[in-house]
Amino acid sequence: MGTTGPCVALSERYAIEGADGIDVYEQHGGYVGLRKALEMQPSEIIDVVKEAGVRGRGGAGFPTGMKWSFVAQDTGKPVYIVCNADEGEPGTFKDRELMERDPHQLVEGMVVGGLALNSVQGYIYLRGEFAHAGRQLTRAIREAYAKGYLGADILGSGKRFDLTVHRGAGAYICGEETALLDSLEGRRGQPRLRPPFPATHGLYGCPTTVNNVESISSVPFILRHGVDWYRQWGTEKSPGPKLMCISGELQRPGNYEFALGTPVSEMIDACGGMLEGRALKFFCPGGSSTPLLPASKADVAYTYEDIMEAGSMLGTGALMIYSDQTCVVDTVLRFTEFYEHESCGKCTPCREGGYWLSQVLRRIETGNGRMEDLDLLQDICDNILGRSFCALGDGMTSSITSGLEYFRDEFEAHIREARCPLGTTEPRRD
Ligand code: NAI
Ligand code: SF4
Repeated sequence: MGTTGPCVALSERYAIEGADGIDVYEQHGGYVGLRKALEMQPSEIIDVVKEAGVRGRGGAGFPTGMKWSFVAQDTGKPVYIVCNADEGEPGTFKDRELMERDPHQLVEGMVVGGLALNSVQGYIYLRGEFAHAGRQLTRAIREAYAKGYLGADILGSGKRFDLTVHRGAGAYICGEETALLDSLEGRRGQPRLRPPFPATHGLYGCPTTVNNVESISSVPFILRHGVDWYRQWGTEKSPGPKLMCISGELQRPGNYEFALGTPVSEMIDACGGMLEGRALKFFCPGGSSTPLLPASKADVAYTYEDIMEAGSMLGTGALMIYSDQTCVVDTVLRFTEFYEHESCGKCTPCREGGYWLSQVLRRIETGNGRMEDLDLLQDICDNILGRSFCALGDGMTSSITSGLEYFRDEFEAHIREARCPLGTTEPRRD
């Protein structure tokens, strides 16, 4: 077990003025990892990432080194590395800050990834709304070309890598990796059937890896400082630092960096605690797609395995904190309306189910619910979970089923009293 608590790793240059420019970036360890990578064999780079135990920071936690080793190298087709910068999970805002404040670490990570995978072309698929991040990345890429870190002959090594930023058009589903690839190819972004995974059939049908911004940005750090440095934090199964987006009813919500393994309650304390006069009621550990947990579980260690044992998922690292002044039904309704709106419509359980879930939750929240609605909600969720085409459908059910599990009495109170007991929503008689 490594150390836990607040740490400074990927955010080390956030406080340094001018670190978003290449000169200051170089003065503070920038492109050292790339220089090391140029002296290594591709398989050696992948082995280092595997040994460090980096797990995908986009939500699923799949081991990054293993994902890279799955990328087919013997097909005769080009290999692509794609960065998923379509950060859209509600409550998640770590990748945006990383790209705005230290864009070169993503650029450097992409070049290193390209070297590891024998890829000569990378894409950063950027969420369309991230205008400033787009400007920062475009400038960083221009600077990297000018200094020979990108292009036909990287630092005179004879190795090539080109990098392009592609801006999305604001669809949440384009953060799903195969929908992202369809969108990048110029099509309407909708998930593809997996398997085959992008590792063998990705962009333009070629072997492709799709990795999150934070995952890729970790790699230059690991090459520069070593595997032991990365593993000084966290646990055996969840090593390393984690950028955390901590939001909600706190004194100082924001982006923080913590070692994995830090208890959620300690993170809340580091944010100055709850707002005056409010007590923790529940929290969402990793974005709106992850089941919410009651306050009684706040001492859980923030690792993939501990959060899972507690009944939820680490997800993107978006810890959302709610107090006793917040209505759980209203919260769940808001999440569900988001998924209903963002459903791509490809499969029936999600397209139809999202609509029905919103309808039922809305009538409960506005005082028009019936007791049998609670079983109806559960039944609709049971027919979406595991039956929808991609993870969006499954994610839609998480807050509803966990809300019913831990706060059924609050749902029932809405129905019994024909109003929101916390007064979040005015009663409405349709
Ligand atoms: P997944 O577990 O299905 O896949 C994870 C990764 O491993 C993918 O890149 C996949 O291609 C790869 N993979 C898995 N098995 C493989 C195999 N046998 N061979 C080769 N590659 C394999 O999870 P998925 O659907 O990619 O992501 C879901 C997660 O995304 C959710 O848990 C959610 O938290 C998160 N999410 C994040 C968002 C954000 O804004 N960052 C937005 C929405 C969801
Ligand atoms: Fe589209 Fe929803 Fe089906 Fe995913 S689960 S394919 S978002 S309709």
